[in-house]
Amino acid sequence: MNKQKRRAVIAGNWKMNMTPSQAVEAVKETAKLTAGAKSCDVVLCVPFVDIAAAAAAAEGTNVKIGAQNVHFEAKGAFTGEISASMLLEAGAEYVIIGHSERRAYFGETDETVNLRTKAALAAGLKVILCLGEVLSERQSGITSEIVSMQTKLDLAGVSAEDMKNVIIAYEPVWAIGTGLTATPEQAEEVCAVIRGVLSELYGKETADGVTVQYGGSMNDANAAELLAKEDVDGGLIGGASLVPEKFAKIVGAAEA
Ligand code: 13P
Repeated sequence: MNKQKRRAVIAGNWKMNMTPSQAVEAVKETAKLTAGAKSCDVVLCVPFVDIAAAAAAAEGTNVKIGAQNVHFEAKGAFTGEISASMLLEAGAEYVIIGHSERRAYFGETDETVNLRTKAALAAGLKVILCLGEVLSERQSGITSEIVSMQTKLDLAGVSAEDMKNVIIAYEPVWAIGTGLTATPEQAEEVCAVIRGVLSELYGKETADGVTVQYGGSMNDANAAELLAKEDVDGGLIGGASLVPEKFAKIVGAAEA
């Protein structure tokens, strides 16, 4: 059992929800309800404009704040983009990169995911790298090939040392926001495939240390059985992270 070597991380992805004032309330409530968490890191990835207020509200608690994207250039004429140093100064410790909604709606490719990942790591952010198959790929029986390819392309040029600051979130696209959850067996199977690729790329010791999350309609009712699996080390939670009581129950399931 190598699960003990890894830190469980339960992260919320608020997506495009919560104004700064709403964020402050939700962070405070989440911090209160998860104050007892010891074996699990608690992260909330919030909209850019919420970061400073959320980080201030999280100060002195065990809630850490993350962003949902970052640009790969350090600065310059990139209207509408945000740099890693801006995120850090605003109070973000983590950043989600490669979420399927960005891949589907905003032209994100494995190449840009890779550039963003390297830039974020170089600046000192912790990366939550999202990948996963779409429904037609699962139905065609090529899930393992797809996630293996994404893992390799997205991490090209990332060193074993840098992998200490990378979390991989396996998010089957068909399970996101649909209420359809991967079964614990499906989640375990793919998370183990990802760890196998990490082992090929970096060696077993490094691979055994990387936190691999599952994401996709994880909630307070199904979290415990997903998190019990050997290679599922945490969760990336969308809808349920907007309700502190539900999110705290998922954190509780990771603690158990
Ligand atoms: P849901 O939990 O709402 O399915 O969203 C999952 C997700 O996309 C987390 O990044």
